[in-house]
Amino acid sequence: MKESIDLFDLSVSEDIKKKYIIEVKDIIKNKNFVLGKKVRDFENNFSKFLNVKYSLGLNSGTDSLEIGLKTLGVKEGDEVIVPGFSFFATSEVILKLGAQPIYCDINLNDLTLDIDHLKKLISNKTKVIIAVHLFGNSASMDEIKKLTRKTNIKIIEDVAQAFGSKYKENYLGSIGEFGCFSFYPTKNLGGFGDGGSITFKKKGYLKTIMSLRNHGLKENYYHEYVGYNSRLDSVQASILNLKLASIKNSLNKRIKNNKKYHKNIDRDKYRIYSQENQPMNVVPLSVKNSKNLNKTKKILEKNNISYGSYYPYGLYEFPISMLTQKKQDFPNTQYIKENIITLPCHGNIDDKKLSRILNILNEI
Ligand SMILES: Cc1ncc(COP(=O)(O)O)c(C=O)c1O
Repeated sequence: MKESIDLFDLSVSEDIKKKYIIEVKDIIKNKNFVLGKKVRDFENNFSKFLNVKYSLGLNSGTDSLEIGLKTLGVKEGDEVIVPGFSFFATSEVILKLGAQPIYCDINLNDLTLDIDHLKKLISNKTKVIIAVHLFGNSASMDEIKKLTRKTNIKIIEDVAQAFGSKYKENYLGSIGEFGCFSFYPTKNLGGFGDGGSITFKKKGYLKTIMSLRNHGLKENYYHEYVGYNSRLDSVQASILNLKLASIKNSLNKRIKNNKKYHKNIDRDKYRIYSQENQPMNVVPLSVKNSKNLNKTKKILEKNNISYGSYYPYGLYEFPISMLTQKKQDFPNTQYIKENIITLPCHGNIDDKKLSRILNILNEI
């Protein structure tokens, strides 16, 4: 049996495990289970890492997106532009607030918002554009910003899949009005359960979001908003703090692996969509000859190499998506959803394992 290679790395080093157990004992002793000092420490460390003024710990990436939209006052009648190719949460939060998602096609370089399509979608009802940094790639932030100049349209960055990636010199999540992060275990910075964070620069948002994450509480059982139960807990904050302290090492390994895919993948056979210098969560490819797609998947399976085939649907395809556009508006998404393979890129893949993946792919 060949050694298996997982798509995601959920292991934890012995060093972190030992420190974590000490932290948990400390939490049990102090009985400070939800929010509190460990969460504040994490928020400070996370903001410092990203070079952004504020970050607040939440229950999930989904909550982060919804709370971001809610803080910007998104409501029924408003339009929010999202890529047609993303995890469902990105459009789900818009639907939950009763607003209209407007779906944008992706480009075939890095699978983020297609700027030409985006230009056509902006209307006087557009309140927010959600730029999803998919798989670890950055959306074209300057171009998106240019389109929103002289308007009141705000940009929210969905950074769930791209912690540690940059746009030019800046970490993602430090550019738009809000950066929305997920700490689901498969993410570049993953916890031991669900968790999320929202980042921002304006002090004016601080009180509102602190209140929204805690049932709209103002003080002493007085509730100012209809809010959420979206508090990060101390146990998650502890593991995230510990992992964050050495995350650069793991991000650098992801960058190195991504570069090796770029250097060695056979471009006659595959098209690669990762931006070369990013610490990818996974590396997205398509097989140029679509007829070989199933064969490629079978050979990877036979060799115990995990891969992903997500997402098999555009977000506009679900009956609940409130689609007001035509399916033909999304030619690139339609192509990618049928031809994509995502491959492992995490820090536990050494040179030998990666060479094995590349040799197998290139020989098909
Ligand atoms: C692009 C994107 N946005 C949002 C989310 C939601 O994050 P969470 O699972 O933490 O709610 C995810 C989760 O996978 C995601 O991939």
